[in-house]
Amino acid sequence: MNSNWIINEKSFNIDKNKYYEGAFCQGNGYLNLRASFEEGLSKATQDELYERSFKSVTTEIQKNPISKWGTYIPTIMGNHPALNEVIINLPYFMEFSFRMDGEKLDMDLSNISEYERILDLQDGVLTREFIWTNKADSCKLKFRYNRFPSMEQKHLFVQKIEVEVLEGTSNLEILSGIDGKVTTNGYNHFVDMNTKIISDMISLRCKTDVENYVMELCKLSSDNVNFSIVKGEKDIRYKGIKQIKKGERYSFEKRSIIVTSRDLEEGDLEKRALILIDAADISYESLYRENKEIWNKKWNESDVKIEGNIKDQLAIRFSIYHLLRSNNEEDPRMAICAKGFAGEAYYGRYFWDTEIFLLPFYIYTNPKAAKNLLMYRYNTLQGAKENAKKYNSPGARYPWQSAIRGDEQCSLWEYADNEIHITADIAYGIWHYFKATNDYEFLINYGTEILFETARFWCSRVDKNKFGGYDLLNVMGPDEYSAMTRNNSFTNRMVKLNLEKAIEALEIVKEKDKLAYEKLNCKLNISKDEIEVMNIIASKLKVIVDKEENYIVQSEDFEDYAEIDIDGLWKDKNKPFGFFVTQEKLYRSKCLKQADALALAMLFKREFTEEQILNTYRKYEPITTHDSSLSPVNHAIVAAWIEDKEHLDKFTEYALNLDFNSDLKGAEEGIHIANCGCLWQLIMNGIAGIDTAINEGTVKSSRVKLPKDWTKVEFKLRWQEKTYKVEALKDNVFIKEA
Ligand code: BGC
Repeated sequence: MNSNWIINEKSFNIDKNKYYEGAFCQGNGYLNLRASFEEGLSKATQDELYERSFKSVTTEIQKNPISKWGTYIPTIMGNHPALNEVIINLPYFMEFSFRMDGEKLDMDLSNISEYERILDLQDGVLTREFIWTNKADSCKLKFRYNRFPSMEQKHLFVQKIEVEVLEGTSNLEILSGIDGKVTTNGYNHFVDMNTKIISDMISLRCKTDVENYVMELCKLSSDNVNFSIVKGEKDIRYKGIKQIKKGERYSFEKRSIIVTSRDLEEGDLEKRALILIDAADISYESLYRENKEIWNKKWNESDVKIEGNIKDQLAIRFSIYHLLRSNNEEDPRMAICAKGFAGEAYYGRYFWDTEIFLLPFYIYTNPKAAKNLLMYRYNTLQGAKENAKKYNSPGARYPWQSAIRGDEQCSLWEYADNEIHITADIAYGIWHYFKATNDYEFLINYGTEILFETARFWCSRVDKNKFGGYDLLNVMGPDEYSAMTRNNSFTNRMVKLNLEKAIEALEIVKEKDKLAYEKLNCKLNISKDEIEVMNIIASKLKVIVDKEENYIVQSEDFEDYAEIDIDGLWKDKNKPFGFFVTQEKLYRSKCLKQADALALAMLFKREFTEEQILNTYRKYEPITTHDSSLSPVNHAIVAAWIEDKEHLDKFTEYALNLDFNSDLKGAEEGIHIANCGCLWQLIMNGIAGIDTAINEGTVKSSRVKLPKDWTKVEFKLRWQEKTYKVEALKDNVFIKEA
């Protein structure tokens, strides 16, 4: 194993268990699995029911403090009475437990030594090794577990467990099966569950509360242990008992197939599962090899090599690993949720994180995946139109929190009503993708329609002011600690782009494909007057730059807010600032949850002078709390531009460690996937100084700024059908076609 690619947990610590469940989450795009132990933890039941109502995730204390199993297929979402559409935690088919003379194996309670768990980022395999000595100290067993979801056979999960008897004799009981007694956020989404034995295999089939069906089918094999099957109503298991003695070795292999009625493939679930389990009936080594081949291809497109700091190298690969495993470029009905499908916080929903923080990584490393993310928005355009109707508006208003249907899922009114920039962020994403790829087919057939419908919405959302201009009132910009602002510069600029690009895209369609243009015109019933109005509004929306201090003003009313003693109130900086101040006070104070004017600077670098960006940074950075994980990495990018070495180092370290450093436990409820995506942008835009295709027509670097200890960064970049290899050194950047 290559130490630049592996992450290890060297000893078991119950306080960090939940962190590792999230950090070591495995996936192949279709299926995502938190890294819980096969045998579970006796102290952490997984079927407790509780009432969870919607609260701000920033300040919420989550239930299940020790362990939360998680088996997620993004298109399987259910209906929660208070929370709306939520991702469902599916029955646990990884289960595998042992008893030695009646004593149960438990990482917390048993006598465990030489424990080590390793996630290999290169092939997505999770390995666990340890020695288990029974309480009487008469028998000692050595265990080695390997497991991975196959990148090649997307419905397949592979497990291999080897046991060696180091000392003594014992009666070993082995139980392995499917446990359906799981809940999601304390809620049971299954209305029906059946277990069944199919020849020598076990299966569980369930129906969800929105009438989706899920079937899991497992086959266990071992050279020297015979199994019987114990069938319960909500669980089904293989059971084997064996007298073991020193020197013996045992090996178990389990193949699990999961299929659902929401899969892109059609057909009877049981028939499909049986065909798939047959296809998986090859050696562990062959399954591993085909899995590895796909991982190799993915890493070949997207690896970032850092010289000079091994820890940072691992951390960046850790974030890319999660970007690769959580993305399903084959299914345009889904995007990537805020927690990267590695936990239940944020309920498996999609935010602006997708277009602004994640999309660039895919645009520049795997445009097919980027297109798929945008197709999700096209496929939920109807939901956005219905959402606009709810606000008595024409066109399409994308929801702040989106799921499968595409209508609003967020039940906190101030976000749903006011955090409207999401709609324009999607327009930005479309334009960014188009400029970087020249994908006219996408723009003509899908992108323009979204751009136009969203532009139409904006024309009804603006208010005309007494000076003949237009305002966007009652807006929450990216900074969620300013809830109802006037003319948020970020939102205004994004809306301007949305309006302008709708018109430009329409011109492009007209020029490139007359027939498509006619069809679109007919479908959308576009009038000259409407375009004229869009033009006028776009030209009159303000991006405010303070005349005296020459910085980008977050919103017209920001300076009216009260001063607040951030340092004095923030008693424990390990917790978000939001824990120490009421929401109501946050909403009227001069403190930021996250980058806002600096998010604008990040996206439209070329529109501001270096001095303006520097002044904006100096103005807002001291009052920004970074209570949102989207903030530090945005700051790192801008710090690189303004050549603030100290802040570049500080925020790069902050962002790299957010989920990677086990002491911070950031990954407990899932991965901060937007941070992962934006870390890649930090490499491209901040460190290597390469501007995006929104701002620049060719791949070129304006300046390079390597963080502390780094001597070189190397990565590949796709740009308008070409692949470039970038090498950033201390004082120079070399870009050549690969
Ligand atoms: C942030 C939002 C973000 C959401 C999901 C919130 O805490 O303030 O900007 O979209 O988390 O990541």
